[in-house]
Amino acid sequence: MSDIRNIIESELNRISLFKSKEKLYPEYLPNSLPHRENELKTLTNIFKPMLLTPGTISHKALIIGGVGTGKTATARVFGKEFTQIAKKKGLNISYVHVNCHRDRTLFEVINEVVRQLRLPVPQRGLSVREVLNYTLDLMDSEDLYVIVTLDEFDYFISVSGSDAVYFLIRVYDEFPDRVKRLNYIFISKSPTALSALDPTTESYLIKNLVIFNPYKSYELYDILKFRAEESIFEGAVSDDILRYIADTVGADKGGPGNARAALEILLIAGEIAEREGSMRISLDHVRKACSIVEPNAVVLNDSLPYLSLHELLILKAIITALTESGEPYVSTGVIEEVYRKLCEDYDVEPRKHTKIYEYIINLKKLGIIMTSTYLKGKKGRSTYVSISLAPLNIIRSKVDELLKVKISYEKDRNP
Ligand SMILES: Nc1ncnc2c1ncn2[C@@H]1O[C@H](COP(=O)(O)OP(=O)(O)O)[C@@H](O)[C@H]1O
Ligand SMILES: [Mg+2]
Repeated sequence: MSDIRNIIESELNRISLFKSKEKLYPEYLPNSLPHRENELKTLTNIFKPMLLTPGTISHKALIIGGVGTGKTATARVFGKEFTQIAKKKGLNISYVHVNCHRDRTLFEVINEVVRQLRLPVPQRGLSVREVLNYTLDLMDSEDLYVIVTLDEFDYFISVSGSDAVYFLIRVYDEFPDRVKRLNYIFISKSPTALSALDPTTESYLIKNLVIFNPYKSYELYDILKFRAEESIFEGAVSDDILRYIADTVGADKGGPGNARAALEILLIAGEIAEREGSMRISLDHVRKACSIVEPNAVVLNDSLPYLSLHELLILKAIITALTESGEPYVSTGVIEEVYRKLCEDYDVEPRKHTKIYEYIINLKKLGIIMTSTYLKGKKGRSTYVSISLAPLNIIRSKVDELLKVKISYEKDRNP
């Protein structure tokens, strides 16, 4: 029995490199959003009239952006702060956030709004229209204004259709004299969802459009730095590691620009480090995390078998150089050196410099490697190469296997 207690207690007492792991979870709402200042300003300007001339029109904003660009987080923090500022000005404004992946019909959406507003609307026997009217009456009697965010709105359009959308958007068409208490933020991944709307609605929404671009590497670095400071003990993760993750995910480096993926890589790398008993996150922890977060095994299995012999040799040279240096990037100069040595070992004629560069570019296009032209502390512009697809040893064993086959095939052809 005491053995078991020991196991449990020692696990409980083990020092973690996370000081607050839940702050890396996707649902955690950070109290600052670096690089979303302009988007917050635009939202503020769209809803500012709610404070100046409340009730005169129903305001609507449309947020469009890819996965992990901060749409949900920005709408939520905007709602939280805006309603608090309104309260200080003596205005009763509530913010409601509805995820249309969960509440996908008109009825579910309206019921969720009622539930979050805690309004005493009868639950049974009312039609959608009746529930809405009841709600608007209660809002009148409480002098309440609301901003409703319909997140994953494209999904709502495709499931519930444009009639359901009009029902929400044109609430006040039927009652032009009513005080306009309902306001909306629509969040969609792509603008194509809008083509399901009529031109008037579409042109209205386009005017109040807030575009969320994929994050660039330097933006992700700032985001990771800020989120790491909140969640991980100082010294457990270096700036170089954060920069490496930012480069892997950054839109300007060929990545998706998805902050959620970047934060998840950091979280999983930290968990792997802990499991291995390490108090610091290493590059290999990050590489492993990358292969889990983005199952790039697909890329590997799809593209490696189609590489030529010399592309495989270059790739092996890159892996070897990265492993030996322990750095996130290696220069093409070093890669070429290792490549020539490998050609000697395998007894094949090495290709010329320009050809080697061509192969490297091709590996990049296939998504197997990343390239970058900067590196701090080193003078001159040179191209640097790195791999984040999967842990190096996994790629190495695949490359070795393929090389064996290719070499014997070439030797058979040219004995
Ligand atoms: N600018 C930012 N600063 C800090 N964290 C961010 C930022 N943008 C996004 N995040 C975080 O990244 C994750 C994904 O953001 P989210 O708002 O859910 O993206 P989206 O809704 O566009 O898919 C969340 O954990 C969020 O807190
Ligand atoms: Mg979202």
